Amino acid sequence: MDRFRIEGPCRLRGSVTAAGAKNAALPALAACLLTEAPVELTRVPRVRDIETMRQLLHHLGVVSESTDEGVRLQCTGLPTTDDAPYQLVKKMRASALVLGPLVARLGHARVSLPGGCAIGVRPIDQHLAGLEALGAEVALEHGYVTATARRLVGTTFRFSNPTVGGTENLMMAACLAHGTTVLENCAREPEIVDLARLLTEMGAQLRGAGSERIEIQGVDTLGSARHPIVGDRIEAGTYLIGAAITLGDVTVRHAKAADLAPLLEKLADCGCHVETDADGLRVRAEQSLVPCDVATAPHPGFPTDLQAQLMALMTQAVGTASIEETVFENRFQHVPELHRMGADIRVNGSHATIHGPSRLSGANVMATDLRASASLVLAALAAEGTTVVDRIYHLDRGYESMELKLQSLGARVERIRSSPAA
Ligand code: EPZ
Repeated sequence: MDRFRIEGPCRLRGSVTAAGAKNAALPALAACLLTEAPVELTRVPRVRDIETMRQLLHHLGVVSESTDEGVRLQCTGLPTTDDAPYQLVKKMRASALVLGPLVARLGHARVSLPGGCAIGVRPIDQHLAGLEALGAEVALEHGYVTATARRLVGTTFRFSNPTVGGTENLMMAACLAHGTTVLENCAREPEIVDLARLLTEMGAQLRGAGSERIEIQGVDTLGSARHPIVGDRIEAGTYLIGAAITLGDVTVRHAKAADLAPLLEKLADCGCHVETDADGLRVRAEQSLVPCDVATAPHPGFPTDLQAQLMALMTQAVGTASIEETVFENRFQHVPELHRMGADIRVNGSHATIHGPSRLSGANVMATDLRASASLVLAALAAEGTTVVDRIYHLDRGYESMELKLQSLGARVERIRSSPAA
């Protein structure tokens, strides 16, 4: 397993470009199942989760080829199987996003239940309730969910709470349903808006993506599209927090201020200088930081995917900060590792209290999940001495060439590749 060795402290300075958003590219890849026409996606991030989704689509009969700018996919004819097997789904929960497209296109689907992951149980009960509302027959057996429907029929369905994947799955399924579907209490993340842009380009009739009410007029078939994936706001936010924690000066291109408003506000409250232009965001920090309190929430609230990174930053603020994680039930796994570097963080249920500033010192730490890994890397950039972050494969799931981007910003980080035998 690869590791990162990071020498701190350093000051990040310079400009990087955010890749396409992993969490927009994954549903976009699944959407290719909805048509037999070719779909070309550009600005697709080169990260492990994308490869996993391509493997799954290949298993379902989709032909995909890498292009200079991304991926070209074609589900010629109908998918050759409707089975998303456990060994693929367990690697990546987002595999559940093939459920809606398969039922809509094929009339049936058999997808392994994704199971939990490091940050929580992460059920898909709302995905299934929505498909049943659209007329699918849903059954759970032997760890798989099967869903069948001669043809999905439009309806009105209200999510009990906002779910990004649930909104995406049902939006895709409803595109080929008979009649009109109204989805209420939808998630509003920018990645959902990006998926809606792709579906519209394919010929779907939908409106309201990005609001809590989405209306979809079903059509009989969808066509081809060429679609640039929206910039990754979480990757961008990670590097901007990197500027703040190292008292540096970083500009991130291919990122939109509107998608990161809650973070930019917090960074400004902490005493950072924040500048935005049409295609980029810049954060500079020159003096010690003021602590800020945060509660994560569905968009347009503070993103749970930046909670771990902000916590690392709060260890350097002068005073006490509090962080409430309201979206996932177990998303503080970075805390014990930050403790090993000298952070003063107390956790009580979904609430963390951070006392700063702490003089962080380099240590051997272990990544446990994608965003916890990013938090440890950020802390290591500010720590005195050498940090080795183990199990970097977590980071490789969602950050494209992180060590190269950090090196371009002046960080002393190197990837230690594990020997193949390891
Ligand atoms: C997406 O996951 C993202 N992943 C996550 O990013 C992100 O943290 C999450 O949305 C919240 O923003 C992708 O887009 C691939 P949810 P998703 O359904 O869709 C509960 C990262 O780091 N829930 O919005 O799985 C669920 O347990 C990843 O890039 C149900 O109870 O998230 C959670 O507590 C991590 N029943 C809450 O809702 C359901 O049927 C939000 O989950 C569905 C969800």
